[in-house]
Amino acid sequence: MAPLLLGTVMLVAQLQLVPSRPAVVSGDEPGQPELVRKAASLQEEIPDGAAPNGSAQQLPQTIIIGVRKGGTRALLEMLSLHPDVAAAENEVHFFDWEEHYSQGLGWYLSQMPFSAPHQLTVEKTPAYFTSPKVPERVHDMNPAIRLLLILRDPSERVLSDYTQVFYNHVQKRKPYPSIEEFLVRDGRLNVDYKALNRSLYHLHMQNWLRFFPLRRIHIVDGDRLIRDPFPEIQKVERFLRLSPQINASNFYFNKTKGFYCLRDGGRDRCLHESKGRAHPQVDPRLLNKLHEYFHEPNKKFFELVGRTFDWH
Ligand code: A3P
Repeated sequence: MAPLLLGTVMLVAQLQLVPSRPAVVSGDEPGQPELVRKAASLQEEIPDGAAPNGSAQQLPQTIIIGVRKGGTRALLEMLSLHPDVAAAENEVHFFDWEEHYSQGLGWYLSQMPFSAPHQLTVEKTPAYFTSPKVPERVHDMNPAIRLLLILRDPSERVLSDYTQVFYNHVQKRKPYPSIEEFLVRDGRLNVDYKALNRSLYHLHMQNWLRFFPLRRIHIVDGDRLIRDPFPEIQKVERFLRLSPQINASNFYFNKTKGFYCLRDGGRDRCLHESKGRAHPQVDPRLLNKLHEYFHEPNKKFFELVGRTFDWH
């Protein structure tokens, strides 16, 4: 209870202290001068030298909540092309890790980049989407926050999830079982494999919809973002009520990488090599089982969000 109360305190104070974009934060929260004073002292704890002229740290007005391997880094990097966006560099894991959450919103604020008052602060932590406690905690901080969720074909996401953990092991020179060993148990699809659960989007989405109306959650089509990022990013700009400043010329297809890369003020850059890896070859019959497994959950998800996706 205490951290939640403190959370509300900090939030209200933050809204008063550092003017947020009116489009992003509604005036739902009552003004509370005492709380404002507390937040002001919180800001004073930040050493002056660290703050570039006129800038301050702001709580995020938008969060990329997931999904793991959905294309969250690509989305954050692409959104950061916008001059009015300030992005936290690392995954903050505030709402899902107890050791962070117990430190309160003051700690969360200290993880944010310095930004000008007109800028929108964004952080991404893909694990938020599948962590049951997170929706309520985010709501406690700011019920009017705008959430970004990037999803891709659930089966493809499972392969990507496996590939990431596989390479983590390779880096540490540790052996790692083949994907079949995770996917199959007693000749059947192993539904206890965690990566499968993370792709049951309707279950996780239900948790979020208990706390946020659908209009506050914009779903980015991660498969489309790979194939043609600009239209997806335009939709995000509109959802966040940002002026349309990102252009088609900010993206170019890099044949060597096989993905779109970014062009920013004449500077070209692709995402890190860990993004866009080849996935393991899976027996087509097993792949088929995977597609079948997700068929019903996908239908439920489409009903939940009133929209369909081009998934297997
Ligand atoms: P794969 O590496 O499995 O292909 P996240 O950042 O959430 O971990 O997601 C990683 C995924 O982002 C990658 O998964 C890749 O498919 C996808 N992605 C989307 N756009 C990309 C881009 N422009 N460059 C590299 N990867 C991109």
